[in-house]
Amino acid sequence: MTCRILITGGAGFIGSHTCLVLLEQGHSLVVVDNFDNSSPEALRRVQELAASDALQLVEGDLRNPDVLDRAFRSGRPVDGVIHFAGLKAVGESVADPLRYWDVNLNGSRVLAAVMERHGCRTLVFSSTSTVYGEPEQFPLHEGMATAPVHPYAQTKLAVEQMLGALCRSGSWRVACLRYFNPVGAHPSGRIGEDPLGIPNNLFPFITQVAAGRRDKLRVFGQDYPTPDGTGIRDYLHVMDLAEAHGVTLTHLLNQEPPTQLTVNIGTGTGLSVLDVIKGFEQATGITIPYEVVARRPGDVPRLQACPRQAEAVLGWTARRGLVEMCRDGWAWQQANPMGYRSAP
Ligand code: WQD
Repeated sequence: MTCRILITGGAGFIGSHTCLVLLEQGHSLVVVDNFDNSSPEALRRVQELAASDALQLVEGDLRNPDVLDRAFRSGRPVDGVIHFAGLKAVGESVADPLRYWDVNLNGSRVLAAVMERHGCRTLVFSSTSTVYGEPEQFPLHEGMATAPVHPYAQTKLAVEQMLGALCRSGSWRVACLRYFNPVGAHPSGRIGEDPLGIPNNLFPFITQVAAGRRDKLRVFGQDYPTPDGTGIRDYLHVMDLAEAHGVTLTHLLNQEPPTQLTVNIGTGTGLSVLDVIKGFEQATGITIPYEVVARRPGDVPRLQACPRQAEAVLGWTARRGLVEMCRDGWAWQQANPMGYRSAP
């Protein structure tokens, strides 16, 4: 079944990889993106990789209903929406909470209102494992208590609750995907993670150290209650995450409304910072110099998924391991030293 899918934030890291998977499955896409934290070059390369031009772009901010109306009117009726657009830097959300509440919550509210107006009530929402806060039991199940500890996670949980209300009040079909830590890149090395400025996240920082763009990795704390003292996360290959979106949308479109799903998207494997450094060195043969420094404010000791629900309900499990994550992330960095601003 080929569909017409509206994708907000489709030029971003996860959005671009998802657009590629959906184009390869024969779907027709309309992407809404303001390129605040992404590049139109990513969409050009996605169409090149998919050998498809079934992707229309509407540039603009999803808080502007006219931008979304234009996207809904850009072709045949939209069958479903995948909503990536939003801000996601934990530290920035602490420093500028109002901006996060506006973009992440208000943006989602405007999107849902315009979807209602166009009679489209099928939505996959990009949520986050950080809604669990600082849990004490692992692995994390979807029914466990949520206790977000920073505005980024609070806004994501608020959107989940808003969408839940739509499912209870009307004939919506919603899936909230709680991502763990997406890393890596498409194996072609043509699309990948392209953070602006100094990377916040571990993986792009490691690849930039490997490329000589950074002198060394700073490991944020080695006094956590974990086996080697460094933070544990559930890293998953961005291609596995992209495939999870295609599977989820197909599942939703085959459900009778109202339907509401909340699903952890992770591998179920927890890796420490030192595990990742070792894995990257083994996968690439490149030594990553590092220095242990103080903990980063807002960091939690461990986040690790129980992926059982994704498998039982969606038939999805992660298929790629740390070696592929490191190898593909490194191939992207090598081929694009300055990200999408590198020469084509
Ligand atoms: C991972 C581990 C750090 C950088 C991210 C996103 C957040 C959310 C979840 C989607 C931690 C350590 C990191 C560095 C380090 N994404 N680290 N040195 O914090 O889990 O959050 O994924 O919802 O938006 O920010 O990921 O990669 O920043 O950190 O030691 O230079 O690596 O302390 O233990 P995090 P991360």
